[in-house]
Amino acid sequence: MSQKYATLSIGDKTYQLPLIEGTRGDKAIDIRTLLKQTGYITLDSGYMNTGACTSSITYLDGAKGVLDYRGYAIEDLAEKCTFTEVAYLILHGELPTFDALETFKHDMRRFALLHEDMIHFFDHFPPNASPMSILSTTVNSLHNYYPEMDSESDPYGGITVTAARLLAKTRTIAAFSYKKSIGHPLVYPSPKLNYCENFLNMMFDRPNLPYEIKPQFVSALNKLLILHADHEQNCSTSTVRLVGSSGANLYASISAGICALWGPLHGGANQAVIEMLEAIQRDGRDHKKYINKAKDKNDPFRLSGFGHRVYKTFDPRATIIKKACNDIIAEMEINDPLLDIALELEHHASNDDYFISRNLYPNVDFYSGIIYRAMGIPTDMFTVMFALGRLPGWIAQWTEMQEDRENSRIGRPRQIYSGHTRRKFSPMNER
Ligand code: CMC
Repeated sequence: MSQKYATLSIGDKTYQLPLIEGTRGDKAIDIRTLLKQTGYITLDSGYMNTGACTSSITYLDGAKGVLDYRGYAIEDLAEKCTFTEVAYLILHGELPTFDALETFKHDMRRFALLHEDMIHFFDHFPPNASPMSILSTTVNSLHNYYPEMDSESDPYGGITVTAARLLAKTRTIAAFSYKKSIGHPLVYPSPKLNYCENFLNMMFDRPNLPYEIKPQFVSALNKLLILHADHEQNCSTSTVRLVGSSGANLYASISAGICALWGPLHGGANQAVIEMLEAIQRDGRDHKKYINKAKDKNDPFRLSGFGHRVYKTFDPRATIIKKACNDIIAEMEINDPLLDIALELEHHASNDDYFISRNLYPNVDFYSGIIYRAMGIPTDMFTVMFALGRLPGWIAQWTEMQEDRENSRIGRPRQIYSGHTRRKFSPMNER
């Protein structure tokens, strides 16, 4: 195959840089030899134009609103799969056979408990501790209890077992952190329940008030987790890869990813959306005021749940979530005024030049919170829900990086220094 090149001219010299094309037509200029050849680096704050790796996990086309995991359309996966099947697909590259899925589920059942010593962790956070801080801390500490990858029983060098362990235990940690925050006794995972049923049961079952697991909520939760399961090199996934590139263990890398997800520009947007909708409600549904604030360059306020770095026509996840949201509200006969406010806000923004000209549409976080509210999940747990969904992606991306020996260098961006030139030091008594 003939290699194609881009030609770069600097002064009177020209340099050839290889062109690379992905299996779905992504195009890149390979600048790996740029510094060596030219003495120049590239400057790309926010990594708007920088590919940090090659990856075979997720494909997305932001111009066309396409999202595929391992070659399968998100629309099919969200409609026809459970989260456990999609987690397996993302981790292993293929949809599971019946037997493989049973083994994966069995692993998750046997790993769902936390070491009892870890239960004490939850007692020592202050009463209003953020569930995201509890989650990242506790996931990080899993390394102390389960340090080694179980390579003997696992052909994938331990990652299959470790992935099942992380998925199962993180779900338990999330539910326990909620129970502790409201001062209720913990509900332990049940081997009789599937992944999503188990989570809802651990969250909402009480000794004096048994929880009825509603199939509509189980189905909606499966869908939401699937839609969050991976999203190529976003902020938290890049963090997982960057931390992992130093040789840090999987738990530490995932814990760092949870922290990156926390921010309101990333996963924290789902909580910020509901807080924004509540503020609009308190303000007498004055949408204009909030739209004008978002447009005002002197005001840091942004419409949470709007805009995306990569999607420039629509976010396919948002389309699926909006429909799921309308369905569940109608089916369960829930009356949530925040849904009406969200619809009105979307209507106003989508007819406003500011949002149209900048391609700002609702993203995955705009309607997800309304579904979580319908299930009874409190607002400060929303980003934890995003983290539960994103786990398979983080684990698969971390593993892919470890296996790509040729390209798995420690992540270490460069900079253009803009500080002082070398200065003469003067001792304290001369300053
Ligand atoms: N409200 C108002 N203006 C916005 C918004 C918004 N939500 N998003 C972008 N803009 C404006 C921005 O001010 C800029 O305007 P101008 O060109 O006049 O300077 C223009 O649109 C481009 O924005 P940007 O900040 O350069 O875009 P970005 O790619 O760096 O940021 C984003 C992407 C998602 C961080 C941003 O759209 C945003 O802050 N959205 C709100 C937070 C949010 O919903 N985040 C969740 C993203 S989806 C879940 C996930 O995967 O993390």
